[in-house]
Amino acid sequence: MQVFIAGATGATGRLLAQALLARGHSLKLVVRDKSRLPEAVRTSPKVSIHEAVLLDLDHDALQSDVAGCGAIVSCLGHNLSWRGVFGPPYQLVHEATRRLYSAAEHSPTRTKFILMSSTGVRNRRAHEQVSLAQSLVIGLLTVALPPHRDNERAAAYLQNKVGPQSASPEWVIVRPDGLTDEAEPTPYSLHPSPTRSAIFDAGKTSRINVATFMAELIEQEPLWEQWRGQMPVIYNQAY
Ligand SMILES: NC(=O)c1ccc[n+]([C@@H]2O[C@H](COP(=O)([O-])OP(=O)(O)OC[C@H]3O[C@@H](n4cnc5c(N)ncnc54)[C@H](OP(=O)(O)O)[C@@H]3O)[C@@H](O)[C@H]2O)c1
Repeated sequence: MQVFIAGATGATGRLLAQALLARGHSLKLVVRDKSRLPEAVRTSPKVSIHEAVLLDLDHDALQSDVAGCGAIVSCLGHNLSWRGVFGPPYQLVHEATRRLYSAAEHSPTRTKFILMSSTGVRNRRAHEQVSLAQSLVIGLLTVALPPHRDNERAAAYLQNKVGPQSASPEWVIVRPDGLTDEAEPTPYSLHPSPTRSAIFDAGKTSRINVATFMAELIEQEPLWEQWRGQMPVIYNQAY
């Protein structure tokens, strides 16, 4: 399958790109700086790279970038610098989600859309309950930290504007807890909602497990059908 990845230079996106190539897929990438890609990805004949700022691309350019892709994945996130967290684009993840989804909307072939989010983002359709203390902290983060607000809006776009039953593209929002780096995939567990507090009792999720789960969502039909239109939470099993 041909897969489009946004954020392939990031810590999780590059693992997903490598995992998909190892599984025989071909990739289309939009990256700001291709030198930030792992060499094996940058030089693979199965990878087509468009070097550009994703939010600078118009609808036609994005449509051409996602054309022919059976899956679109966003691993975008704000860089952890003062400018990345507090500077523009404040709506990086939300805008990219909205524009990529719209670019694929009239694709003649079935498309899976996967958004990397976080356990701090609540599934409001599932009426997820959190403690008053957590609710206050998340409320503060939403006001004080543009990236959290951005992740909330990106998830709300798919949940409310698009809706869980959408067939074109279908979508899954993947919610890891505290991200860690590990060399190899390890056993992980999946849950419809968080089983621990994202603020006061955060678990851990390795980026390589996130990449593995995303690759399996793309490849495995029963797994996709199980989570389609939902916001699965992923934890490493050791925690
Ligand atoms: N940190 C955690 O514990 C945690 C937990 C759960 C979920 N999350 C979420 O997981 C997601 C990914 O995390 P990660 O650590 O894998 O991300 P990351 O390493 O920070 O990668 C971010 C990606 O987004 C791209 N990007 C940043 N600003 C951009 C812009 N203005 N225009 C275009 N591309 C831009 C980066 O491109 P460049 O390489 O060009 O900078 C990079 O490819 C984030 O949304 C984060 O909120 C994080």
